[in-house]
Amino acid sequence: MSRPAILVDNVSVRFRPYVDRKPTVRRSLARLRHRETTEVNALTDVSFSVTPGEAFGVIGRNGAGKSTLLRVLAGTLRPDDGKAVTNGTTSTLLQLGVGFNPELSGRRNVYLGGLAGGMRKADIESRFDDIVTYAGLEEAIERPVKTYSTGMFSRLAFSVGMALEPEILLLDEILSVGDESFRGKSMQAMRDLLDRSGTIVFVSHSLASVAQFCDRALWLEHGRVKQIGPAEEVVEAYQKAASK
Ligand SMILES: Nc1ncnc2c1ncn2[C@@H]1O[C@H](COP(=O)(O)OP(=O)(O)OP(=O)(O)O)[C@@H](O)[C@H]1O
Ligand SMILES: [Mg+2]
Repeated sequence: MSRPAILVDNVSVRFRPYVDRKPTVRRSLARLRHRETTEVNALTDVSFSVTPGEAFGVIGRNGAGKSTLLRVLAGTLRPDDGKAVTNGTTSTLLQLGVGFNPELSGRRNVYLGGLAGGMRKADIESRFDDIVTYAGLEEAIERPVKTYSTGMFSRLAFSVGMALEPEILLLDEILSVGDESFRGKSMQAMRDLLDRSGTIVFVSHSLASVAQFCDRALWLEHGRVKQIGPAEEVVEAYQKAASK
């Protein structure tokens, strides 16, 4: 058996809520005492594996822990318990805005994103035109990214992410804001990646896309695994539960 592209073993993540009041001894003691009750259990004992060539969907309600899970897979968040291992170069397209500087031009952000993803400057230079053409942003590339529409922004992020030629692609809702033509294009790019035995983790509220595109899916509920299985089955079960 080939080794998994992603292995998640009993991962738990707890967040300590942000405290904005001035800490006093009394409040600190009170916080210590209430530690268990005030912590947010974003993920609890989550385990699964994903094989190379697989598209793996993650669904669940707002706050279920999907983005937290992607951050763990991307290595930007350390789990409090358990471990997550990825085998392969990973490109992360997390929620909109992460990794880009909105004050800078599209051009500068292509460089920022490419360098952050591990590309060399010379590689970015040689692929720059392709990245921009792919995103369809020739006209807007010198403008600050803060003037982009949400869809334009995500197209740029997707193009940079794909230029990294990742073996593992982590997507958090990024395609849902693209228009029809870009969505078709990005779906094709993702299928090509899977054909090359790449792996995709696809977080989305678009249940139809998950059912259609993913081989298997994970349903998270309050940070726990509710169900893992063939994408269509999991989506159906989730929809059934949601309509109750
Ligand atoms: N940095 C943080 N500090 C404190 N709590 C956090 C932090 N990030 C996430 N959480 C909490 O962890 C839980 C899971 O959040 P997460 O963003 O993973 O949910 P999600 O499934 O991605 O939701 P959505 O569908 O809205 O994107 C939520 O209760 C959230 O409030
Ligand atoms: Mg999220």
